[in-house]
Amino acid sequence: MSSWRMSRTFPGSPIAIAEARRFITTLLGSRPGIEDAELIVSELATNAVRHSASGRFGGCFTVAVQADRDRIWLGVLDQGGPRAPHPLPPQEDEEGGRGLALVAAMAVSWGVTGDEQGRIVWAALDLAPQQTATR
Ligand SMILES: Nc1ncnc2c1ncn2[C@@H]1O[C@H](COP(=O)(O)OP(=O)(O)OP(=O)(O)O)[C@@H](O)[C@H]1O
Ligand SMILES: [Mg+2]
Repeated sequence: MSSWRMSRTFPGSPIAIAEARRFITTLLGSRPGIEDAELIVSELATNAVRHSASGRFGGCFTVAVQADRDRIWLGVLDQGGPRAPHPLPPQEDEEGGRGLALVAAMAVSWGVTGDEQGRIVWAALDLAPQQTATR
């Protein structure tokens, strides 16, 4: 399978998080390991809506995907704001603060770029190549 890229912009509302997840499922649904990609996009989209200016009235976020034969790159672009993404140390008995740590654990690499005008939180995942007929 050759390399491809796709992106889609969603309204910055909690309802759009499930849509962002379905976007990934539709694009990558036939590839083994898709669950990790779905979870990463759900966490990053949730963060964009909850913690960045994307969650303001009229805000939006964009999900970008690049897929190569055995690796995918997922990015969520938000509309920035005063706070910056930072993984929190593990906290027992506490709800929350686990999303980015989870992303970091699942991804081959991940990172944040941008500033208060807008940020991209991205993650790269190794994914088994799509099976193709051999006969
Ligand atoms: N897109 C973002 N823009 C601004 N700040 C962010 C963004 N994503 C994460 N953060 C900051 O980084 C912190 C850690 O994010 P993380 O996803 O690990 O935890 P959480 O969202 O607080 O809780 P959980 O994901 O477990 O529900 C957040 O509390 C928030 O302050
Ligand atoms: Mg989170």
